[in-house]
Amino acid sequence: MERSFVVKGDFCYSLGKEELITRENAYLVCINGSVEGIYETIPDRYRGLPLEDHSHKLIIPGLVDMHVHAPQFPFRGLGMDKELMDWLWSYAFPEEGKYMDPDYARDAYREFVRELRKSATTRACIFGSRHVEATEILMDLLEESGLITFVGKVNMDRNAPDYLKETSAQASVDDTRYWLEKVRNRYRRVKPILTPRFVPSCTERLLEGLKEIQADYRIPVQSHLSESPGEISFVKELCPWASFYGEIYQRYGLFGGPGCPTIMAHCVFSNEEEIALLKNNGVWVAHCPDSNMNISSGIAPIRKYLDGGLHLGLGTDIAGGSTLSLFRTMAQTIQLSKMYWRHIDPQYKALNMKEVFYMATLGGGEFWGNTGSFQKDFAFDAIVIQDDRIAGSRDRNLEERLERVIYLADDRNICAKYVAGEKLF
Ligand code: GUN
Ligand code: FE
Repeated sequence: MERSFVVKGDFCYSLGKEELITRENAYLVCINGSVEGIYETIPDRYRGLPLEDHSHKLIIPGLVDMHVHAPQFPFRGLGMDKELMDWLWSYAFPEEGKYMDPDYARDAYREFVRELRKSATTRACIFGSRHVEATEILMDLLEESGLITFVGKVNMDRNAPDYLKETSAQASVDDTRYWLEKVRNRYRRVKPILTPRFVPSCTERLLEGLKEIQADYRIPVQSHLSESPGEISFVKELCPWASFYGEIYQRYGLFGGPGCPTIMAHCVFSNEEEIALLKNNGVWVAHCPDSNMNISSGIAPIRKYLDGGLHLGLGTDIAGGSTLSLFRTMAQTIQLSKMYWRHIDPQYKALNMKEVFYMATLGGGEFWGNTGSFQKDFAFDAIVIQDDRIAGSRDRNLEERLERVIYLADDRNICAKYVAGEKLF
């Protein structure tokens, strides 16, 4: 049987936002890429399977990056004195303009994919640029990497420099249909996702065209929502008819509901109506704490969303965020939630380690179905962490080891990685 084996080690995984399971010195049986079970000794019927022995190492579900911009990888760490709209014009748009050139795109995307492959991330929802050819190059490289991803060709037909903005709503729609036809059935691991950049970048005529595409192809959607004060007041000017930002995506069938799984990044300033719609439509909120701090967007009320039962995952939001590390992102999520509690509203208590671990694994993983945990029939996505290299981790219990990994681990501590039962390294 392909992708069938037994893995030995110390396992941690979530059953839900409150429940963390730890299994020390145990055997996980993987059959055809999915978890069959975790046992204290290998059941007789599985004794013939190959053994991957990671004794004394920590094994956790692969982490899920719900929001990252691949073409922004080359300038991460720059422009952190700006807010969103200025930062887009000064840094993001000029860089993304370069992806018109397929050679530039290939070189830059190769580095992005190489770094993502080494990281703790096994699945990701990725923005490309608005260019079809560069987006195909990115998808080809990701397919080869073994990671499982959604990738979007970005739509943007207004409020951007001429060298980047699409020439009309129709040109954007035509390019999107052309791209979707080209990538249809081309990949095993990479799937397309509809990617209107955000309302300031998309005319309503374009959103109308995307609505039709979504209805024809039934593909998922990703965008940005209620991220930054300047952005939100601009949206009010652009669409005075809307009583809140999310209503605009909703009008154009791009905001969750049956047949339209949707991810909205940020939701820092969502009002009660917007939160209710996010929840009713089952939209995933991608929380991106590093980005929210770097470009001074604000502090998202993540405790409120978590307790309110919204779908929640974590995003690195390169290059608003400056790191691809979801370890850092988990720690920052805890830290920022403490600032929310202390400075904004003491009724929303800070998140704990179990909750952010849930968000980085099962919370985002559910976007793919049974992913992000070691429960039976879940895809075997895993990273193996040699945490005895983190001084002080010996003789800690598994929960303490996981907590220290969240704060202290980096790529150098990852010694093996599996995606849907395939071993990447
Ligand atoms: N809103 C629209 N485009 C972007 C982007 O590239 N990064 C972030 N953080 N927000 C956006
Ligand atoms: Fe973003």
